Amino acid sequence: MSQIVSVQRHLLATQSNHPDATGDLTALLWDLTLAFKLINAEVNKAGLVNLYGLDGDRNASGDDVTKLDRFSQDTIFRMMDHGGHLCCMASEEEREIIRIPAEYPKGKYVLSYDPLDGSSNIDANVSVGTIFAIHHRVTPEGTDGTEADVLQPGSALVAAGYVVYGSSTMLVLSTGDRVDGFTLDPSVGEFLLSHPNIRIPSRGAIYSVNEGNENFWDANTRRYVQWVKSGGPGAYKARYIGSMIADVHRTLLYGGIFLYPRTFRKDPANGECKLRLLYEAGPMGWIVERAGGIASTGERPIVDLVPTHLHERCPVAIGSPDDVAEYLAFYRGER
Ligand code: AHG
Ligand code: MN
Ligand code: MN
Repeated sequence: MSQIVSVQRHLLATQSNHPDATGDLTALLWDLTLAFKLINAEVNKAGLVNLYGLDGDRNASGDDVTKLDRFSQDTIFRMMDHGGHLCCMASEEEREIIRIPAEYPKGKYVLSYDPLDGSSNIDANVSVGTIFAIHHRVTPEGTDGTEADVLQPGSALVAAGYVVYGSSTMLVLSTGDRVDGFTLDPSVGEFLLSHPNIRIPSRGAIYSVNEGNENFWDANTRRYVQWVKSGGPGAYKARYIGSMIADVHRTLLYGGIFLYPRTFRKDPANGECKLRLLYEAGPMGWIVERAGGIASTGERPIVDLVPTHLHERCPVAIGSPDDVAEYLAFYRGER
């Protein structure tokens, strides 16, 4: 029979592989898992306590903010502001960086997060999630963190992961070496290792993209999707949930490709992108790469992009190495 391993014990075991580790990152991740359990409890009872519906506000990217977005944002802040591990935070829901209150110590890490991804689908009971990314600070220790601490590329991440609040709630996490999945056992309130060392299949049979935008894609992306639909790489199915967290999680487990290309709708010259580099594309791309996949903007690896502002967006092609390589060949006009 297989061992029962809690996320806490897994983190301690991972830490012991790094003799120079102080335990700070482990303690930080430990705190985060409690925030995820609190959000999970609220997401699960949302229908019961009339938490559904809009909060009447708009976030930094101009989207409607739901009450659960606000709850998730507040929960992560209230959990993480006083632990002494962070120098500042940045969230999809906040226009500016989130400072650590003056009375609390300033730590050596910085946390960027999307408190609730896919929240526009929540009234339909579709899976939503939380995405998080942890960098080492670049400014001097002991001081207040600044935007410079947040504006770092995915390649500099020390840890990242996501939680899917789905039919079961799952935490997927990497501290760099490998990617592991933990399923929340709600009866005891613990995340237990259920998917050790996740490796993305080298090829899948699913493509995932919002085809409602097809007329606004670049010609090469259109040619690629047409090629897939005409059986080019084999018989592929279309799956698009509209929650990045759920679409990328499925891609990680089953293989295939998830695309959110630039659309040329409002700005015909430059186009516009949907997914945020710091809170969505960066950490999800880093995780998929750690599991053996590819995450590209079409032009370059997502993890190479250095954000120039907090709410920067980028095009996304993420998934199995063979599938994404084919997309990139089409995108570059080589096929
Ligand atoms: P969020 O709920 O955090 O604002 O993110 C929504 C994002 C992402 O989850 C999803 O992949 C994408 O929006 C869906 O966009 P479309 O509705 O344009 O397909
Ligand atoms: Mn999101
Ligand atoms: Mn969100």
